[in-house]
Amino acid sequence: MALIYATRYGATKDTAEWIKKGFNRDIDLLNIEEISFSDTAKKYDLFILGSGVWIDGVHKDMLKFMDTQKEELQDKIIASFILCGTTNKDIKGEERIEKYFTKFHSSLDKKPPLNEKFGGRMIIDKLNEKDRKLLDTFYKKVLKREFVSWDRTEPKKAEFFGKKTRKTDAI
Ligand SMILES: Cc1cc2nc3c(=O)[nH]c(=O)nc-3n(C[C@H](O)[C@H](O)[C@H](O)COP(=O)(O)O)c2cc1C
Repeated sequence: MALIYATRYGATKDTAEWIKKGFNRDIDLLNIEEISFSDTAKKYDLFILGSGVWIDGVHKDMLKFMDTQKEELQDKIIASFILCGTTNKDIKGEERIEKYFTKFHSSLDKKPPLNEKFGGRMIIDKLNEKDRKLLDTFYKKVLKREFVSWDRTEPKKAEFFGKKTRKTDAI
C-alpha cells in the first residue's frame, strides 16, 4: 500500500505522516514529484492520495497521475484527502471544498470510499516570492484582510483518519 502526497510547503507531507501513524501498518510514503507514474500504479494494491490546494486546485501531477493511470488505479484508491485554507464553517466554504474534491476525483468513475479535508498552513516567510506577491494581493483585494501567517494543521484528526482508513472494508 502507498500513500502518495503532493505538497508545496510541507503541511501535506506532515499530514501524510500523521495519517501513516494512525494507520499503524506498513505503508510507503511517496512524493508525487519523485515517482514514476506507471511503475507506482502497478506496484501497489491500494492507495491513499492527498494533496494541498493552490489557487486552481490540487497538484497538477496528482491529476496527471490519476488520469494517465486510470485503468491501473481502478478500485485501488481507498481514501483521498486535501489540505486547504478554506474552512467549512459556512456554506460557501463547504461548496468550495466540494469543488476541490470534484476536480481531484474528475478522472475516477466513483469517489474513493473515504475522503477528508484538513486545515493547512501558510507561513509568509517560507513562501517563494511569486506566491507571496500573489497571496498578498489576494488577501488585500479579495479577502480584504491583513495577510498573516497561519497554521491550522490537524495532527489528531489526521491520525484518526489513518485509523479509520485501516478499518475500511477495502483492506
Ligand atoms: C500559493 C498558494 C495558493 C493557495 N490557494 C488556495 C486556494 O485557492 N484555496 C484554499 O483553500 N487554500 C489555498 N492555499 C492554502 C493551502 O492550501 C495551504 O497553505 C496548504 O497547507 C498547502 O499545502 P502544503 O503546505 O502541503 O503546500 C494556498 C496556499 C498557497 C501557498
